[in-house]
Amino acid sequence: MASVHIPDENRVITGFAEIKAFLQTINVWHDRWEANAPLAPESTQEEILDAYAHVLRPYMASHHYQVADVINVHGETPNLQALRDKFLAEHTHTEDEVRFFVDGQGYFWFNPGGGRPVCYVHCVAGDLLSVPANTPHWFDLGEPAFVKAIRIFIDPSGWVPHYTESGIDQQYRS
Ligand code: LAC
Ligand code: NI
Repeated sequence: MASVHIPDENRVITGFAEIKAFLQTINVWHDRWEANAPLAPESTQEEILDAYAHVLRPYMASHHYQVADVINVHGETPNLQALRDKFLAEHTHTEDEVRFFVDGQGYFWFNPGGGRPVCYVHCVAGDLLSVPANTPHWFDLGEPAFVKAIRIFIDPSGWVPHYTESGIDQQYRS
């Protein structure tokens, strides 16, 4: 289960309903999905997508998403440091960023502005997060780097980070 952390207030939010309600205040969507088939570390992309098809397909259809794939990032991933750095600085995308955590973990950071504090969501296996287009965010793989996630796109070829250059992420770097 995910947890939401507000470092400046020393506050942690746990519990499905509490997390969902808090994230809605910053326009981020959270849900939990369960596989309907057993998965193993060596499961293929097709097996993973099939195991979640019962929730993935209706979700994609209702939001007009076109493509889903599975990314797998771990300690031996080539260019791991470059990959890590690419998303560690605050950025936006021109379409929604939708990620479902099949295994491993990751940290999504948000600076919602308007007097609201910086927060991060620690996502683990079973968590779905949807970040609307043009929402500033940054992403930390954490240590040790390991994430297996379904990515859902309208158009993956357009998947580029637009950096805000705010520098806010550096204030929260551990
Ligand atoms: C991305 C994340 C990790 O843009 O923020 O793919
Ligand atoms: Ni992003």
